[in-house]
Amino acid sequence: MKRLIEIYFKSQKSTIFFEPFDDVAQIYPNTNVVLLTDEKVYSLYRNKFEQCNTVVVPEGEKCKNLEIVVNVINQLLKYKADRDTALIGVGGGSVCDLAGFVASVYMRGLRHSFVPTTLLSMVDASIGGKTAINFNKIKNLVGTFKHPEFVVIDISFLDTLSDRDYLSGIGELIKIAIITDEKFFDVLENTDLTDRKNINYNIMFESLRKKSEIVIRDEEDRGIRHLLNFGHTFGHVIERQYQLPHGQSVILGMLIAMKISIEMNELNEDVYNRIYKTLGKYLYYKPKLEICKLSHEISLDKKRRKNTIDYILLKEIGFPKIVNMKLEDIHQICNKITLELT
Ligand SMILES: NC(=O)c1ccc[n+]([C@@H]2O[C@H](COP(=O)([O-])OP(=O)(O)OC[C@H]3O[C@@H](n4cnc5c(N)ncnc54)[C@H](O)[C@@H]3O)[C@@H](O)[C@H]2O)c1
Repeated sequence: MKRLIEIYFKSQKSTIFFEPFDDVAQIYPNTNVVLLTDEKVYSLYRNKFEQCNTVVVPEGEKCKNLEIVVNVINQLLKYKADRDTALIGVGGGSVCDLAGFVASVYMRGLRHSFVPTTLLSMVDASIGGKTAINFNKIKNLVGTFKHPEFVVIDISFLDTLSDRDYLSGIGELIKIAIITDEKFFDVLENTDLTDRKNINYNIMFESLRKKSEIVIRDEEDRGIRHLLNFGHTFGHVIERQYQLPHGQSVILGMLIAMKISIEMNELNEDVYNRIYKTLGKYLYYKPKLEICKLSHEISLDKKRRKNTIDYILLKEIGFPKIVNMKLEDIHQICNKITLELT
């Protein structure tokens, strides 16, 4: 049986297929297609790119910048891409963010789709329509909203993923469970996610469904969608300063957010300990974080408005809360908290 999910966003339907990715014609029959991928994915899966024009960019986060956007546009011109061309991003969240961005600005918009190749992009980044590049070292400063038409999830790509990048994806997966549903968290809590075989259709389906339910309510990220940012305010600072993978930084950011929630009497310490027991298993990096110092850097966050920020606290599993906080107050609280990474 063909497994698929159709998600009806305001501006576009996104259809997610769970099947092997062998041929671009399965996504766009009779269409001029350009594939966009990064050097690592290209070198590992060269045969998948033989059938069409392919643009290859530097691997990972390094591809998310304006200079690369210009290079990609030049290549699209070379391949005579026009408004009928479809762009398919084949790669992790970085390639998806870049491909979506280029597809939304080139000739004011190309059709685009994704073949996510990392766990993080399968369970999170490939859906929701946020595109982004970094600018002046500020994460995701420049971007647009544009949903992909199709997403093809082929879990065999996970076989070649490094442990570091695989565990990074688990961070975003557990985040979605923490902010949406205790039952989903229970499942993840009782599954050995280090074993890649345990990442099955049901887990992916649930993650994509839960994320989409939030996105549908606030596609332009003006309110409720901020909840998906749980762990990201500090996560982005950690990612920049310690050069850690995105999902790993988000795990550390969530732990800090929960410590702040405890300090503000919103979260019970037992819940923190329960979540830590699960999240801690998937921490690849355990840096000694100076939380107080990090808190000075959150002023660069896109969610900042003058001297306040919409910060995401946790009350219970499944019950996050958006609170508009003064940066100074966050800084004061951070003076009081420590993070033991055992
Ligand atoms: N748009 C969104 O909604 C959204 C959501 C979450 C995260 N993101 C973004 O996603 C990015 C992180 O994505 P990521 O974790 O997928 O990392 P990534 O795309 O940076 O890739 C990490 C590494 O894995 C390699 N790789 C990719 N697929 C592989 C495979 N199958 N086998 C071996 N290596 C492979 C890449 O070449 C790279 O070196 C961040 O920039 C983050 O901001 C976007």
